[in-house]
This record gives sequence, C-alpha cells and structure tokens, in this order.
Amino acid sequence: TEPLKVALLGCGVVGSEVARLMTANAADLAARVGVPLELAGIAVRRPNRQREVPGVAPELFTTDAEALVKRDDVDLVIEVIGGIEPSRALILAALESGKSVVSANKALLAEDGATLYQAAEKHGADLYYEAAVAGAIPLLRPLRESLVGDRVSRVLGIVNGTTNFILDRMDTTGAGFTEALEEATSLGYAEADPTADVEGFDAAAKAAILAGLAFHTRVTASDVHREGITEVTAADIASARAMNSVVKLLAICEVDPVAGKVSARVHPAMIPRSHPLAGVREAYNAVFIESESAGQLMFYGPGAGGSPTASAVLGDLVAIARNKMTGRRGPGESAYAGLTVRPVGEA
Ligand code: HSE
Repeated sequence: TEPLKVALLGCGVVGSEVARLMTANAADLAARVGVPLELAGIAVRRPNRQREVPGVAPELFTTDAEALVKRDDVDLVIEVIGGIEPSRALILAALESGKSVVSANKALLAEDGATLYQAAEKHGADLYYEAAVAGAIPLLRPLRESLVGDRVSRVLGIVNGTTNFILDRMDTTGAGFTEALEEATSLGYAEADPTADVEGFDAAAKAAILAGLAFHTRVTASDVHREGITEVTAADIASARAMNSVVKLLAICEVDPVAGKVSARVHPAMIPRSHPLAGVREAYNAVFIESESAGQLMFYGPGAGGSPTASAVLGDLVAIARNKMTGRRGPGESAYAGLTVRPVGEA
C-alpha cells in the first residue's frame, strides 16, 4: 500500500523528537493507521542549524517550507515552528489544498484559530492541535469529544511548565528567578522567547483555546486578563510558605451561569499546600474541568518538553491519517458551534 507522506515544518525541541519517533516507531504507527507514514521533508529556517536526527536522511531537510507544503506528493502537514507568521500562511496553504494539519501552535490558534478552522472546513481538511495546550495531557480531545454532550462551567489549572518549574524551584531550593529560568530553558521547557512564559502570554493563549472549546465560543488571547510571574519575589514565596501555601500561576476560565458570560484570566495565586494543585511540581501541568453532569475531573501530566509534546503531536498525526484513510473528519468547526453563552466582551 502507498504510504501517506508527511511534511514536518520545524525541527526544534519538539520537531526533532517527532521526526525521531516517526522513524523509530514507524512499524507501530503504520499498524495503527493501516498504511506507513513517511517523512516527505523537514523544513528548517537555517540549513546550518538543522539537527542531527537519528534515522533521518539529511536530504530530507529543506529551507523552502512553502514549496514543501505545496508538493503534490505531500498528504499531511505537521507545524511545530510556533509564532504567527510564517506558520499561519503555511497552515492555510496546506488546508487550502485539502491537506490536514497537526499544529502545536498555541499563539496562532489563540489569535486566529477561526480563520484556520474556516479554511479546514471549506476544503474538507482536519485541524488537530492537542500539543498546543498542556503538552502530553489529553485535554482538547476530551473537551472537543468526550465532554461535548455535557455543559462545562469551569476550567482551572496550571498550563505553563516553565513558570511552574521556576516557582517550584524558588519554593523548594530557594533558587533565584534567573537561575531557575535558565534551568527550565536548558531542559527544553521554555519558549524560544521565554518572555512568553514568564509574562503569562503562553498561559493566556492556552486559556483562550481552553475557554473556546469548553464554552463553544470564540475566545482570543487578547480577551484573557493576564498577569505573569515577573513581579513574584522571594519574599512573596516566603510569606506564602509561612501561611502553609505555595504560589502558582493559574489559568481560570469560567462561564457565569446567570449572565451567560465567559471570562478567562491568568495570574499568580496563593494555594494551600493541602490543595492538589500545590503538589504539581517542576514542569508538570494540572487542569480541573467542572461540568454539569461529570462533576469535577482532574487532568495531570508533563506539560512541556520535547518528548511529551511529541507524544501529543503523534497522536494527532495518527488521527488525521486515519481520517484521511477512511474519508472521515474530526469535530472541526462544530466544536465551536451551538453557542449557548454570550461571547467575551458582549454586553
Ligand atoms: N513553554 C511552554 C511551557 C511549553 O513552559 O509550558 C509548552 O507549551
């Protein structure tokens, strides 16, 4: 049987792990999809920066991402470049030619997810992005599929690994902010520009994505009230400790059941040590979902890093490949439809 050909855009911490696993676990992936998944090419920005990926032929690397996406023999596209452009143009080019896309790009989905969704809908392609929120933790598929028959009232938790790592280190080892950030960066948790982590932009993008799926409405990152951890001092951590509490950066998405209004916010909060969120260490994430019928659910796991994020990307890759083989589609735009609440900002 003919393999499905996959274009990989980006080969950083996540992309190189995706490429390695696609090669190392090729037989398992082929068995689950029904046909082999073959890397058609890997787009990188600078050729001299290309990574040595075990088992991946150096000829697969290219600096022309656009040409790679548009190649006739490419069936599926994975975008792990991050940032708004050129990612948006590349994803749109793929979707417009009917190629389904897996993306880990929280900033783009939170800013302009609607445009991508509309393109996917119009051209009969799929758009999956489990890796965009909370790394390996399955969170978007539960919201888009498992809980879609329920009414979610609240999503609350820790969705940024880097800031959790920093706050945890400051609490347990007395490390300074800068030292802890350097460690988080070297472990592959932080964004290319760690300002996105420590100023709360990364968590705000994730909160927007979660709120949109939880409440079936469009929420963008600019709708999210945002405060990062740069103002949290060693003295704050010490006074939390004196009160048997810890400081955590929380994302909170809620819908007011009476007014029917959605709100989303990200800010540091003091949490009693007895609370399950206080036990979330290092770069782990944890999210509570509360809904009318299911009650309270807790999702916990590695929220950042190459391997955990690659796990989510590969799960999505298998999903879009299966859909391609069977002619089925994922939930798509319907995840946002059937609006029962008023969108953010509407009176
Ligand atoms: N920089 C992000 C974090 C990576 O620390 O959580 C995962 O999205």
